Amino acid sequence: MAGLVSRRVRRRRLRVAAGIVAAVTTAHDPTPALPVFADVDTGVDDAMALVYLLASTDADVVGIASTGGNVDVDQVCRNNLGLLQLCGATDIPVSRGADQPLSAAMRTAEDTHGPAGLGYAELPRHDREPTSYDSAEAWVRAAHAHPGELIGLVTGPLTNLALALRAEPTLPSLLRRLVIMGGSFDYRGNTTPVAEWNISVDPEAAAEVFTAWGRAADAKQIAVQDVPIVCGLNLTENIALTPAILHRLGIAAGSSTMAMSVLDARGTHSVADNPLIRVLEDAMRFYFEFHFDQGEGFLAHLHDPLAAAVALDPALIGTRPTTVDVELTGTLTRGMTIADWSRRWGRAPNAQVGVQVDPPAFFERFISRVGPFARGLAHS
Ligand code: BDR
Ligand code: CA
Repeated sequence: MAGLVSRRVRRRRLRVAAGIVAAVTTAHDPTPALPVFADVDTGVDDAMALVYLLASTDADVVGIASTGGNVDVDQVCRNNLGLLQLCGATDIPVSRGADQPLSAAMRTAEDTHGPAGLGYAELPRHDREPTSYDSAEAWVRAAHAHPGELIGLVTGPLTNLALALRAEPTLPSLLRRLVIMGGSFDYRGNTTPVAEWNISVDPEAAAEVFTAWGRAADAKQIAVQDVPIVCGLNLTENIALTPAILHRLGIAAGSSTMAMSVLDARGTHSVADNPLIRVLEDAMRFYFEFHFDQGEGFLAHLHDPLAAAVALDPALIGTRPTTVDVELTGTLTRGMTIADWSRRWGRAPNAQVGVQVDPPAFFERFISRVGPFARGLAHS
């Protein structure tokens, strides 16, 4: 634990030296940082979520779990380690997760995120390795290192969290908060007509997670407000990043930047002189093109960054408590998330489902954090 604290202080000193946090706080009066453990399947929008956390002085990222999803688990590890290298956060441990979902066959989404998961972006080389323990153990270790304090964030399939729960069933009461990007509530799916990707890849794992928190709520081990906050597609598809907003981020970072256009040649590389902005622009262009090909316009939904922002500040969204379960056997509906709004099941709420968000407020916060962070990296 002492090691984790000193890592945070070291990172903070680096940020202060780079001028990233001086405007917000002073070295004598640091914003109390909340320990955050992120479980990701990086992934373009997962990368944006991690950068948001690293840029947030109110977050202390104590560990990252890699879960196979958007790309296979080894590629997710490489992406996480490369991103940390780029962001000067090489002290954050990255763990490797399970090779496969609990019982489903593994699927990946290179069509959405690019062959290596980060669109057209290239990450710097690094020589770091994942931890000797796996992602499930990393969850348990982090929770024990920060009892009652740790914020868990999952922006990929829930495989590793389900495995962690099997090893440590008291996780629901050990965590301060859990935020999940997953599911779709009274809204269409993005993987099947009714199922969202993170749940659809490992529905059994998702069901185990909701059951575990429901059981803890039923047994009054946690309060109703402590059940997971769930950001489904009904919420996250409101967060549409456009080339104009991405351009604003480049400017906030003090970088050279060009507003992208749907008319640009596919795969046109970023001209940004800031290394982080260049990676984000190259990654986002692929994601814009994917969304365009889906008929959604030249934009991209920032599912995971919204969940990351909510993890640090739940007041960013409006939620409704309800009981959520995952369809495991339906021939057309496997992976669908069902919310029992009218309490017909008679079970305790196991989720706070996100139902309302203010997209401009989110983008304002994203740019005001990531812009100065990127600017500081260029000068460090
Ligand atoms: C989720 O699926 C993934 O492709 C994204 O990274 C996000 O976590 C959205 O359905
Ligand atoms: Ca993801």
